[in-house]
Amino acid sequence: MATEQQTRDAAADGGTATGSESLTVTDNRTGRTYELPIDDGTVRAMDLRQIKADEGEFGMMAYDPAFTNTASCRSTITYIDGEAGVLEHRGYSIEQLCERSTFLEVAYLLIFGELPTQPQLDRWVYDITHHTFAHEDVKQFFEGFRYDAHPMGMLLAGVGALSTFYPDAKDIDDPEERYMAAVRTIAKVPTLAAFSYRHNMGLPYVYPDNDLSFPENFLSMMFKKTEVKYEPDPRLARALDVLFILHADHEQNCSTNAVRGVGSSGVDPYSAVAAGVAALYGPLHGGANEAVLRMLRAIGSVDNIPDFLERVKNREEKLMGFGHRVYKNYDPRARIIQQHMEEVFEATEYNPLVEIARELEKHALDDEFFTSRKLYPNVDFYSGIIYEALEIPTEMFTVIFAIPRTAGWIAQWMEMSDDPEQKIARPRQIYTGEREREYAAIDERQGPEKIVGPPARRPKRQRRGA
Ligand code: CMC
Repeated sequence: MATEQQTRDAAADGGTATGSESLTVTDNRTGRTYELPIDDGTVRAMDLRQIKADEGEFGMMAYDPAFTNTASCRSTITYIDGEAGVLEHRGYSIEQLCERSTFLEVAYLLIFGELPTQPQLDRWVYDITHHTFAHEDVKQFFEGFRYDAHPMGMLLAGVGALSTFYPDAKDIDDPEERYMAAVRTIAKVPTLAAFSYRHNMGLPYVYPDNDLSFPENFLSMMFKKTEVKYEPDPRLARALDVLFILHADHEQNCSTNAVRGVGSSGVDPYSAVAAGVAALYGPLHGGANEAVLRMLRAIGSVDNIPDFLERVKNREEKLMGFGHRVYKNYDPRARIIQQHMEEVFEATEYNPLVEIARELEKHALDDEFFTSRKLYPNVDFYSGIIYEALEIPTEMFTVIFAIPRTAGWIAQWMEMSDDPEQKIARPRQIYTGEREREYAAIDERQGPEKIVGPPARRPKRQRRGA
């Protein structure tokens, strides 16, 4: 970090930057010039602190609500180039990973940094397969939820509860505890996810089947009925595995930031991952694919598509599943899902919403309004349609998103825990409230007449059947 003396020297030298990798800032309040080092295209927010109008002042801060232009960490896990439509994990393109790897192989890559050798992969898959059972008490615990509890709420509570079953995970510096936490979360989140679905459906919970692969086992825990052994369609299992790979990590998104932020307090990894589940629950994050399905249902028929798109262009509606904050080109994940859609539709029953989705996409990609704004289908447009074809209820979509993202959360949590530059996350604020007010006794207080209380009750929402 440049000292104030150095920055004054720079100013004395004519006020110009002395090195090419630096930023020269002049504070017009004082006329002082500061030279801030540039590292990897960034300046350190702490370097601003030396900029003061008065000696007694706290110093300048960067103001960045929602962190839209703040790098919070250095990471080697996931690279995104939104303009070019590139997504890589540990340097491998998402296209190669989807074509040649399984989800568990990608999870290993995210967490340990390298693709596994065959013996490493065998051990990893064995360990995950043999930790898929949840403690029987978890079943009892799930019984306590209402029949129509949102499955994401159940998953959130279930993941948080895991910390009570594995208290040794609090030793976050013990490599064995960390390994076991990685194995247990990746192995048990699908079990808890399937339990939440079965609870909603009023069906008995299905225990994991160790003969099945990771995606096959999830399909079995979801859909097994009276058959002795559930045999999933391999096309559906592969499509689900590809969806898992596509959702495994997406660098510093809202839920990953939540995992890192909560984990920075030194809490156990189950609690940190529960924070990620909570963030993913929000409609602006994990809920977009649910919104796609609601939109398709509202459109109702292929004939209504032109009217709907007119309303989108008149800004009365939004074309859900189109556009992306980072990708201003085709979302690479969307292109990959498309390659598996045909297989899924061949293996599942005809669903009119699928036809509406495909026609809607064709119309939009042929329309200047969308092409000129670089609005292409994103991953959520297709993932929702595939889940719909699998007859998975919309409430489960975000839950299924959480299954693969658990691998990303764990990888990011480990990287954060090992990073010597990280501390407990604690942003600053700009205080805009009142100061040093005189306390008034209750009978002397004056305020608006209106009594603050809950607003008038709204009608109860429609309950679904058991
Ligand atoms: N439908 C209609 N118009 C749109 C849409 C859309 N889905 N998305 C953007 N636009 C318009 C927007 O109105 C603006 O038009 P104009 O320049 O005339 O004012 C222009 O396109 C540029 O949009 P923007 O607001 O700068 O884009 P943004 O980066 O702020 O928003 C977004 C990105 C994803 C929030 C937005 O595209 C959106 O709301 N899409 C629908 C919701 C959705 O599918 N979300 C899932 C994203 S993928 C999740 C993940 O990666 O995990």
